[in-house]
Amino acid sequence: MRHSVVTALVASLLLLLTHPVWSAEAQPAQKATYAGDQVCKACHAAQVEKFSKTRMGKITLYNARTNLEKQSCESCHGPGSEHVAKGGGKGVGGLISYRKDSDESVQAQNESCIQCHRGGSQTYWEASAHAGRGVSCVDCHTLMEKTTDRFQLAKVGDQTPFFNKRAQTEVCNQCHLQRKAALQRSSHMPLREGKLSCADCHNPHGTPNPVMLKQASTNENCYSCHTERRGPFMWEHVPVMENCGNCHDPHGSNNDRLLKVTDPRVCTSCHIYDRHPGTPRGRTSVFFFNRSCTNCHSQIHGSNHPAGKRFTR
Ligand code: HEC
Ligand code: HEC
Ligand code: HEC
Ligand code: HEC
Ligand code: HEC
Ligand code: HEC
Ligand code: HEC
Ligand code: HEC
Ligand code: HEC
Ligand code: HEC
Repeated sequence: MRHSVVTALVASLLLLLTHPVWSAEAQPAQKATYAGDQVCKACHAAQVEKFSKTRMGKITLYNARTNLEKQSCESCHGPGSEHVAKGGGKGVGGLISYRKDSDESVQAQNESCIQCHRGGSQTYWEASAHAGRGVSCVDCHTLMEKTTDRFQLAKVGDQTPFFNKRAQTEVCNQCHLQRKAALQRSSHMPLREGKLSCADCHNPHGTPNPVMLKQASTNENCYSCHTERRGPFMWEHVPVMENCGNCHDPHGSNNDRLLKVTDPRVCTSCHIYDRHPGTPRGRTSVFFFNRSCTNCHSQIHGSNHPAGKRFTR
């Protein structure tokens, strides 16, 4: 009995407090609404000018098609009426600023982009190692001014303006210092030279494949450029068909031809006792000299010669 009286009291008190008249007073900060880019232009003419040169600027400022695009500046920064009402300023009015030192979460920043970019190559973003580790779109993309010819890659020193492949690699190198170091090794695929980039093999936005590879496996990745290695071969070398990474490091090595360890050790890591012992002999031995084992076993990736069972032809 007493219990129900108390609940009734509490309930009516709550009703009173949540009455529109009271609550409006209790939270004076109205939810911000969209002000429109004409209003932003008044104070941010310089930003509008820069932004209008980018692909996204051209669309959202002049050729908006969807309702989201029509929100223009505020499609990314969020509703700006509070910011405007308070006369603008850094950190004023709850906008998304994309600043590293701002209060807004990385999730909120990324969510503003994903509204429009949830398909295509961004489909697997949510499940990617990058999203999982709090990397933001803006770590890799600069949006308010035209940076690279395509893709609006983040400004990284003076490395990014024109050479797109190299710029892409620089963007990754900001964080992946081990890979950056690997590229400096004597044997490497031509990333440093700007003919390849990390994004030729990995999709930084995530994929359903291991280590965000664009292809389903390491071998499929290698075959996409080194098509001659795909076979089919009459005589297959098992470790090659299994994983090119058994012998090669795709990011760079100080051994010839991206080998993880030198030939013959790369072979003797698996072959020790055979018809001829695999253990290296003197430096001048044919088993060691120059290409060592591959002096004779030259078709080590597989052979189509009827007598090529041992990959010698
Ligand atoms: C596509 C998303 C997007 C749109 C649309 C956008 N911005 Fe930005 N804005 C950003 C990002 C991201 C940053 C952080 C710096 C950068 O990446 O260039 C930023 C930074 C800013 C900054 C502070 C830093 C600076 O570069 O001066 C201002 C001011 C700004 N934007 C105003 C605007 C105005 C005004 C518009 C409309 C013309 C607009 N933004 C449209 C994403 C956007
Ligand atoms: C009355 C002038 C005024 C108007 C209107 C205005 N701003 Fe600002 N805004 C400013 C000032 C001043 C700053 C601080 C600039 C600085 O720190 O360099 C600023 C900063 C910003 C920033 C960076 C915020 C931060 O925390 O770093 C963004 C983003 C921004 N404005 C977006 C907008 C958008 C979008 C609109 C339109 C809805 C808009 N502004 C309208 C004056 C204005
Ligand atoms: C209102 C919708 C919208 C929002 C929000 C948006 N974008 Fe875009 N974005 C577009 C459109 C439209 C294009 C142009 C696509 C095309 O040309 O096919 C584009 C293009 C791009 C491009 C390629 C640019 C180029 O020059 O090649 C990048 C990178 C990009 N967006 C990143 C972002 C990031 C990062 C954010 C969040 C800060 C973001 N976008 C927010 C609509 C949006
Ligand atoms: C780790 C770096 C990185 C992050 C994080 C990143 N991007 Fe990208 N993005 C790139 C690179 C590099 C390209 C160049 C295209 C390529 O070769 O994959 C690109 C291209 C794009 C493109 C244009 C081409 C395309 O595939 O559609 C869009 C749009 C885009 N990114 C949006 C986003 C959005 C939205 C986010 C956040 C959800 C994001 N990016 C996060 C590196 C990144
Ligand atoms: C802002 C920092 C940052 C940038 C820039 C960045 N990454 Fe990453 N990357 C990370 C972090 C953090 C991880 C997670 C590492 C871990 O979990 O051990 C990661 C993981 C990865 C992985 C491994 C994924 C997995 O499933 O294990 C690949 C591949 C990768 N990044 C490629 C790239 C490429 C390609 C670029 C350039 C387009 C890039 N990253 C730029 C921070 C970054
Ligand atoms: C030629 C294709 C190719 C290129 C180019 C490439 N990668 Fe990879 N990457 C791979 C393959 C294959 C793997 C998985 C095999 C392995 O773990 O070594 C991998 C693995 C990774 C991993 C995960 C390693 C681990 O042990 O979890 C990261 C991080 C990574 N790459 C980053 C990068 C970055 C950054 C660049 C550019 C500097 C880059 N990759 C360029 C093919 C490539
Ligand atoms: C996007 C294309 C591409 C992919 C994918 C690719 N490569 Fe390459 N690779 C190249 C190019 C280009 C060269 C340089 C060829 C030249 O200089 O004649 C090269 C060279 C090599 C070399 C010789 C390096 C040297 O020092 O002589 C090896 C070994 C190699 N790749 C192995 C691999 C392996 C293993 C994979 C899979 C993890 C792979 N590649 C994936 C493009 C690619
Ligand atoms: C059992 C170890 C092993 C595996 C696994 C392996 N390779 Fe190799 N690869 C070698 C050796 C050893 C060389 C050096 C050949 C030589 O000295 O003639 C080489 C050289 C290469 C070269 C450079 C060729 C040249 O003419 O300079 C490419 C490209 C290559 N491998 C690609 C691949 C690809 C792609 C795969 C996976 C399908 C793969 N390798 C798997 C051992 C291996
Ligand atoms: C990751 C382990 C591994 C590495 C590294 C490796 N192999 Fe093999 N190799 C095998 C396996 C497994 C077989 C298949 C053995 C079988 O069918 O009995 C094989 C088969 C062979 C055969 C044919 C043997 C036969 O009986 O038909 C030759 C020759 C050979 N390898 C040479 C080499 C050479 C040369 C290298 C170095 C470039 C090398 N292997 C590196 C695992 C490896
Ligand atoms: C001087 C040439 C030559 C060199 C160098 C050489 N091999 Fe051989 N290898 C042969 C010949 C010839 C056969 C037998 C081929 C046959 O019977 O058809 C053979 C057979 C093999 C077999 C198959 C053994 C079996 O039991 O059937 C393996 C495995 C092998 N070599 C591994 C290696 C490794 C590992 C190295 C480097 C340490 C190496 N070879 C260096 C010529 C060479």
